[in-house]
Amino acid sequence: MEKTSVSRETFSSRFGVLMAMAGSAVGLGNLWRFPYMVSEYGGAMFVITYLVFMLVLCLPILFSEFIIGRRSQKNAFGAFRVLGKKKAWGLAGLISVITPFIILCYYSVVGGWSIYYLGKSFTFSSNLSQDYLSQMFGSLVTSVELPILLHGAFILLTAVIVMAGVKKGIEKFGKIMMPLLFIMVTALAIYSMHLNGAAEGYRFMFIPDLSLFSTKTCVAALGQAFFSLSLGCGTMLTYASYVSKDEDIVKSSVGIAFSDFIFAILSSMAILPAVFVFNMADAQGPGLVFEALPFIFSHMKFGGVIAVIFFVTLLVAALTSSISLFEVVIAYLVEEKKMKRGIACVITSIIIFVLGAFCSLSFGPLSELKIFGNTIFEAFDKLSANILLILGSLLTVIFVSWVMKKEDVIDEFTNQGRLKNHKKFFPFIWFIIRYLAPIIVFIIFISNFC
Ligand code: PHE
Repeated sequence: MEKTSVSRETFSSRFGVLMAMAGSAVGLGNLWRFPYMVSEYGGAMFVITYLVFMLVLCLPILFSEFIIGRRSQKNAFGAFRVLGKKKAWGLAGLISVITPFIILCYYSVVGGWSIYYLGKSFTFSSNLSQDYLSQMFGSLVTSVELPILLHGAFILLTAVIVMAGVKKGIEKFGKIMMPLLFIMVTALAIYSMHLNGAAEGYRFMFIPDLSLFSTKTCVAALGQAFFSLSLGCGTMLTYASYVSKDEDIVKSSVGIAFSDFIFAILSSMAILPAVFVFNMADAQGPGLVFEALPFIFSHMKFGGVIAVIFFVTLLVAALTSSISLFEVVIAYLVEEKKMKRGIACVITSIIIFVLGAFCSLSFGPLSELKIFGNTIFEAFDKLSANILLILGSLLTVIFVSWVMKKEDVIDEFTNQGRLKNHKKFFPFIWFIIRYLAPIIVFIIFISNFC
């Protein structure tokens, strides 16, 4: 293996690793997408399918990203190229650098909307009508300057944290913000418990109804699990490259997946009862967070305060995810292109700002511009979430189980043989990574094009 550079930063503590990685996982995917998916794809059946995929497929894929990242101690591109020996594997690495870049372009537009709603929530009056709120959302996203400016502000916030470095920026931010986030989401979930009629929401989420299960539930649950756990796009791999050789990969991965799941459940427990109580089951997608929730807040006791808490939560969750996406690109530019960290941050921010501006404009003046029938925003979203993330995960498991040496994989998985217990269940994990995961992920990848 190539010698690693001495100056490379690492996370300083186990708690820091967990918070940074859980911070990457917990984001808009949990607070906005998961509750909407639950309501769309079969309630408790979706939750159960999601949990099964998470345990059986996503955990082994997360182990794989850990193994590649920590073994190589390199950025996503460098990791595939160095461990893969052949130049062609650099291409897989390149996909892992390009995907987060594409995700960031539209993720930060939504991040910008969160900033707007956070500002607005300080002055929400009570009993706002649905029409008023949908107009508010419509006029924000279709206008030109404001959403672009807010998108720029979101990128700036992200870049400033990443510029501060791995320990002082990413780890510190995660350590402070993740526990805070947990408290805020829990508070919201408890608040929703007190709504009259919340039980209907819980019943839908927790009591399975077999008739609501279909193949669509499976595809949606797996896609959601990849997105939510930040798999297949070099983020976990890059963070893993900053993890010390003593860290237990299995423990950390289980901790990350567990926190991600808890956050998704808690945010559904906060949002779904309210949606049922106020009879807003039709609201979905971007509308759920930005139209329906403000409506609900404006009809609640202490709704103003709850709204502020919710949008701070949403913004912080989005930021801890966006910094992980940003770091993938920066690590690549610093290590492969020998750029200074500050310069890499500035250049990346500018390009994302410009491309993201097009995503933002695709709700307004550029709404007629279509790429294969999708607006620019939709095209960026679909290309990354439905195609590149799945492709990235597929390449990751193939790489670990068919390209890397098995002894190296075992060595990394068991911390050079020190974790004896891990050796015992390694054959089971190996079977999943080598056979089960590639087949299932491939089938889902292909189903995109059918
Ligand atoms: N996991 C993040 C979320 O749930 C999104 C994300 C995807 C972050 C891919 C990094 C990589 O919002």
